[in-house]
Amino acid sequence: MTALFSPLELRETTIPNRVMVSPMCQYSCEDRDGLATDWHHTHLGSRAVGGAGLVMSEATAVEPRGRITPEDLGIWSDDHADALAKTTAFVREQGSVPAIQLAHAGRKASKTRPWEDSEPVAPDEGGWDVLSPSGNAWPYEDESPTTRAMDQNDIESVVDSFRAAAERSLDAGFEVAEVHAAHGYLLHEFLSPVTNHREDDYGGDFEGRARLTREVTAAVRDVWPDEKPVFVRISATDWLDDRDSWTVDQSVRLADRLHEAGADLIDVSSGGIVPDSFPEYAGPNYQLRLAERVREETESDIAVGAVGGITTPEQAEGIVANGRADLAVVGREHLRDPYFALHAAEKLGATEEVEGPVQYRRAFGF
Ligand code: FNR
Repeated sequence: MTALFSPLELRETTIPNRVMVSPMCQYSCEDRDGLATDWHHTHLGSRAVGGAGLVMSEATAVEPRGRITPEDLGIWSDDHADALAKTTAFVREQGSVPAIQLAHAGRKASKTRPWEDSEPVAPDEGGWDVLSPSGNAWPYEDESPTTRAMDQNDIESVVDSFRAAAERSLDAGFEVAEVHAAHGYLLHEFLSPVTNHREDDYGGDFEGRARLTREVTAAVRDVWPDEKPVFVRISATDWLDDRDSWTVDQSVRLADRLHEAGADLIDVSSGGIVPDSFPEYAGPNYQLRLAERVREETESDIAVGAVGGITTPEQAEGIVANGRADLAVVGREHLRDPYFALHAAEKLGATEEVEGPVQYRRAFGF
């Protein structure tokens, strides 16, 4: 029995193996309406056919202002949930667990797509005014007429948007909800002292900066059924040790606080708060030590996902077998190879342990 192809039980949900498809924005909504298209269905569906135990959607905006680009996926109305329902049903039919990453891009919103150089989209060109904790604009902290500091009403409305988005996600058939609190987007902007200069209850010390992420996680847990897990993706460090910034020690503390708020797994990523917030080394397993520290140092028994530079079956197996993380979260390798998990089963001699699609049985030998 391999570790990678052993199931993971979280609450009453069984993830059939430890390979998770990392959330990856596709910027592919056709009419800037946030509605899922055939592209999303095929993209997520084929990774489920490819054997991943859990297929996470891309960052899915809880309100229109929370989109990185006007072409991002959204879940702010019932029509959005309806458009995703056939995909969740298909993912489940493949034996995989459909999951959704709920997101708000904060001050990083209203940009063109990466292949259009991520330029600001002005409100009169189809963009919008963006929200942030303290009014400093991405990327260089300068003043900007379109970046606004959030007031108490904005904060309450964001928490409500996450709660409503979670309810709709359930209607759409998702079994796991992941709160996106990483990569310099809204919740991370509140967590990090680099971007949070507030003097009210949502800024200042650790508890103040962590308050919004805790409230959002609790709101999602409030509407998410007891038997289904909630994940939170964090940037475990800003990689800015030369200044007051978000650190792994704070992440460990946050993980325990999020466990109290109802989270079951921390998906451990890093960086993104400012342009120079990235690791010096980004090769194989480049964030694994961060996941390990969260796993080892938390007082709660919250589960952990490791992401970053995981590209081979042996690597993924080693991470889980050595108890370094509970899930191996695979991003870009899944773009190169939608069948990563089936190939891994073949390579690790675990074809008896997977139930791949009967249609492909002759090719893979399970
Ligand atoms: C990403 N990443 C990402 N992360 C996230 O939390 N939400 C998202 O929507 C996206 N979108 C996205 C799009 C694309 C095209 C890429 C390549 C990446 C980050 C991704 O989930 C992952 O954390 C990193 O790519 C590192 O893992 P890999 O690719 O080294 O396995």
